[in-house]
Amino acid sequence: MATISASGVSLSWLSQLPSSSSSSSSSSSSWPSHRRGATQIKMTVSVEKKKFTTQKSEEIFNAAKELMPGGVNSPVRAFKSVGGQPIIIDSVKGSRMWDVDGNEYIDYVGSWGPAIIGHADDEVIAALTETMKKGTSFGAPCLLENVLAEMVIAAVPSIEMVRFVNSGTEACMGVLRLARAFTGRQKIIKFEGCYHGHADPFLVKAGSGVATLGLPDSPGVPKAATSDTLTSPYNDIETVKELFAANKGEIAAVILEAVVGNSGYIEPKPEFLNALRQITKENDALLIFDEVMTGFRLSYGGAQEYFGITPDLTTLGKIIGGGLPVGAYGGRREIMEMVAPAGPMYQAGTLSGNPLAMTAGIHTLKRLQEPGTYEYLDKITGELTQGILEAGKRAGHEMCGGYIRGMFGFFFAGGPVYSFEDAKKSDTAKFAKFHRGMLEEGVYLAPSQFEAGFTGLAHTSEDIQQTIAAAEKVLRQI
Ligand SMILES: Cc1ncc(COP(=O)(O)O)c(C=O)c1O
Repeated sequence: MATISASGVSLSWLSQLPSSSSSSSSSSSSWPSHRRGATQIKMTVSVEKKKFTTQKSEEIFNAAKELMPGGVNSPVRAFKSVGGQPIIIDSVKGSRMWDVDGNEYIDYVGSWGPAIIGHADDEVIAALTETMKKGTSFGAPCLLENVLAEMVIAAVPSIEMVRFVNSGTEACMGVLRLARAFTGRQKIIKFEGCYHGHADPFLVKAGSGVATLGLPDSPGVPKAATSDTLTSPYNDIETVKELFAANKGEIAAVILEAVVGNSGYIEPKPEFLNALRQITKENDALLIFDEVMTGFRLSYGGAQEYFGITPDLTTLGKIIGGGLPVGAYGGRREIMEMVAPAGPMYQAGTLSGNPLAMTAGIHTLKRLQEPGTYEYLDKITGELTQGILEAGKRAGHEMCGGYIRGMFGFFFAGGPVYSFEDAKKSDTAKFAKFHRGMLEEGVYLAPSQFEAGFTGLAHTSEDIQQTIAAAEKVLRQI
């Protein structure tokens, strides 16, 4: 492999990187020879645990910092809030990730959600390989778009028509324009700590990376772009009522994460979603569920199916692209028919609906349709969350947390956590120590207190037990 040098940084390590077919291994579990289907993976118990070293990761990240802002292409990846340098991933399979130093991790980030059936699933890879032979992008309609659209429409209660885009951010941008076009109104209500991608109107009390880095609302966002964005604490229906009363006939939509994953994990209070459905109806405003994270994760029909509340519009992403870049928005036919070229609301995309993303999405959803999927996610995520919380209690830490199906989280705080304000009470310094300790024990958690964790079908009971044992050890040390 050629050696390149950027900004005077020697990249001589490039030639030493393990390739995906490499069988070089410093422990029996570091570089599995199997690389089989996610569901078939059996953990090999290391005879001798490999020493945790990060030299190659550090070299690569130091070089990356000269090449890309902060060394990354998405802020939370940089580990800023948990300290230490990020590890550089070389490959993934099933529930596992391997870094460039040969360390193996049980992964609870799952590429931030898409990997719900396990990383690099054999069937998805095989289907992608076949599709790829026909080309990667047509820039013209293809049958695969129909197939995935039918699957999404059949699954998600609120969606009668769908538009595919390339990311969750794009989906949220599109849905906002559509809500404004349909209602002829400008204002929207969003909730503090909910993240709807990085488009200007949503960068107000935005959770996720903005919360993780403790950033004020981003410079560069024109005042005019956010002047119609009203905010309320999550789970606070009284504030929402006040906003509607003070802005009569002006509010186009209320948008939210029906279960928050971008302030850490926060559940809606039992009546919150119902009350939002009612108040939006009473005021002829649209209710938008941002299901980029919860779609096909809380249940096959998403949070709306799980809670039995049907919004007017829905955004999706992550899982429906099976690990390839994708997003979507959809809803009632009469609203969706406003989207160009059926209607006047313009939105377009060079790579939208490309055959690769459609293929990965179709095969991921097919797997999720198998009986027992969500029961299994519920079971293992419950065991994991309970196990970590009990370990925390035994170690004398004040902790709280929760889970639904394949999504979980915990805080180093007494709780309950119903809002971003509550979440901020968590001891983030302690979380940082916990995160680093878990990493060294071979468990990859989201590098932020303000991000939910994800489980998937590839996580085995052994993975869960191993993770709880690691947590027990780390929680006693911090
Ligand atoms: C709820 C929610 N909406 C929107 C987005 C933005 O999606 P993307 O990162 O694909 O642009 C995210 C990303 O994490 C998300 O969690």
